[in-house]
Amino acid sequence: MSGSEQLTRLMARGAEFLGAEYAILAGAMSWVSERNLVAAMSNAGGFGVIACGAMTPALLDAEIAGTKALTQKPFGVNLITMHPDLDALIDVCAKHRVGHVVLAGGLPPGGAIEKIKAGGAKVICFAPALALAKKLIRSGVDALVIEGMEAGGHIGPVSTSVLAQEMLPEIADKLPVFVAGGIGRGEAIAGYLEMGAAGVQLGTRFVCATESIAHPNFKKAFIRASARDAVASVQIDPRLPVIPVRALKNAGSDAFTAKQREVAQALDEGRVAMAEAQLQIEHYWAGALRRAVIEGDVEQGSLMAGQSVGMVTKEEPVSEIIETLLAQASAALAGRSSF
Ligand SMILES: Cc1cc2nc3c(=O)[nH]c(=O)nc-3n(C[C@H](O)[C@H](O)[C@H](O)COP(=O)(O)O)c2cc1C
Repeated sequence: MSGSEQLTRLMARGAEFLGAEYAILAGAMSWVSERNLVAAMSNAGGFGVIACGAMTPALLDAEIAGTKALTQKPFGVNLITMHPDLDALIDVCAKHRVGHVVLAGGLPPGGAIEKIKAGGAKVICFAPALALAKKLIRSGVDALVIEGMEAGGHIGPVSTSVLAQEMLPEIADKLPVFVAGGIGRGEAIAGYLEMGAAGVQLGTRFVCATESIAHPNFKKAFIRASARDAVASVQIDPRLPVIPVRALKNAGSDAFTAKQREVAQALDEGRVAMAEAQLQIEHYWAGALRRAVIEGDVEQGSLMAGQSVGMVTKEEPVSEIIETLLAQASAALAGRSSF
């Protein structure tokens, strides 16, 4: 069997689940994963996911309609579990017959999984640990993403390689599992597929796609950066649990430390409750990311990026990125079987 035939066989389950040619998702990235990148990804045979982020139901409605105008292929929608209008956003997905909803940002609230499935969509959740994966499987999710701390954006504490070893042997036979975090080349994709993954999810690698609307300054920062520039934020107050975010270090990283101090002080003085304090931190990130992605302020804005950023070396169409990844994965598989 040739390398590309082996790859097709290894990706078959994930590709069928997604309704795509290849089992490669472009993970939702707030402000970046809008209609253009999502449609380009699905048109190239992968699977694009709209980042709903802090969008209102009306904005999501328009974004899904806009994406449908650019592609006939399936794509998904990423919803953040703590969004105050989660129910209404699920209704918008059902209205458009979106086939896959990805729930991010912690365990889904009661009833959310059932509601999404009742609307006809498959549910994909992030599982940060084996115990949580088992709980999510019992709750009826259709697929899982396991994402390591090499990833860009909000991260957990464990690396992709360890999560893959701990979790794939236990759960890969129960439902499709997609591995994310730190994947920049096809050899790694081949490796995770051989370990039992149904497919992979990449984010950082797609930021500089020609079709991505990210500001030229944002793309330049990615092309210049190396792995060690993508650092995780530090929590400064033990009472204010802040989910770490991996981003390229800049003046904005220091501003985030100052923001945490300000919110922690407000907590101390009883001016805000814990839930409100955490929401303030999340809103801060959304605003800072917009400032960098849309406005191009790469000094004060947030440059969320994964450690694979060093493997992003130029702007190129999504179809070329996919072709490169597939060629690398196929060559790796062919090389192994020739021994
Ligand atoms: C700029 C940026 C924004 C992101 N925004 C989101 C988001 O809104 N929701 C989400 O579930 N994941 C988000 N992520 C994570 C990606 O969907 C994806 O899982 C991650 O980038 C995969 O790891 P990689 O960056 O190492 O490829 C974001 C990542 C980046 C780089």
